[in-house]
Amino acid sequence: MRYLYVCNWKMFMNHHLIDSFLKAYARETSGISECGEIVICPPFSLLDYVYTQKRIGAINRLKLGAQDCSQFAYGAYTGEIAASYLKEAGCQYCIVGHAERRNLFYEDDAIVLTKIKNLLANGITPIICIGSTKGKLSMIDECIYNIKQIDFFMNNLDVNSNLIFAYEPHQTIGADTLPMIDSIKEIFSTIKTAICNFLFKKKPLIMYGGSVDENSIQILKKIDEIDGFLVGRASIDFQKLKNIISY
Ligand code: PGA
Repeated sequence: MRYLYVCNWKMFMNHHLIDSFLKAYARETSGISECGEIVICPPFSLLDYVYTQKRIGAINRLKLGAQDCSQFAYGAYTGEIAASYLKEAGCQYCIVGHAERRNLFYEDDAIVLTKIKNLLANGITPIICIGSTKGKLSMIDECIYNIKQIDFFMNNLDVNSNLIFAYEPHQTIGADTLPMIDSIKEIFSTIKTAICNFLFKKKPLIMYGGSVDENSIQILKKIDEIDGFLVGRASIDFQKLKNIISY
């Protein structure tokens, strides 16, 4: 199966580390790209640098994404990065509604929706993070929570646009733990059904995120419903990422 791998580099990478990653990738580009589509999401300040490297050659199979964007399209919003700037910087994807944005910066689904609309207006595919971000819910409550989120987004968007959903159990982000395989399966099939209710023929693309690494991938790849992986810490080390992709 050809998965989508989205590398969420958060605030872990600097210029030097990104250079080493790109050089390592360039050496193995053909082998690794056969196994899946890879999107890297560097910090804003390094998007342009990576885009330039992409245009000049060896990493041209890597796709570029951003970790977030502004809810505003244009204007007096000091420090904000508009979706149109991401477009200019070569981004084809953008993560929105990540649990860290929701918890640390108080973003809710209404804000995430405006970001998605701005991204779609600029031809950028949003990777919409869903899942409860507070406390531990029972599996049934987690499923209900996800269905409500999906209904909210799908009822307010053109369902024929390119949308990717990423389910991340928040207690696994930045940790070293996975929920039970059966509960991931159950939650993913609930999510898939909820999205398919809005789609006519189109197949949804649903990713898993949270503690994806060389060990957990051995379990996660057994779950048929997962179409891709949102990888945080393990994606900053090219060798680890390669092991995840080629497992
Ligand atoms: P992690 O982060 O892989 O480091 O757990 C995942 C994420 O935040 O998307």
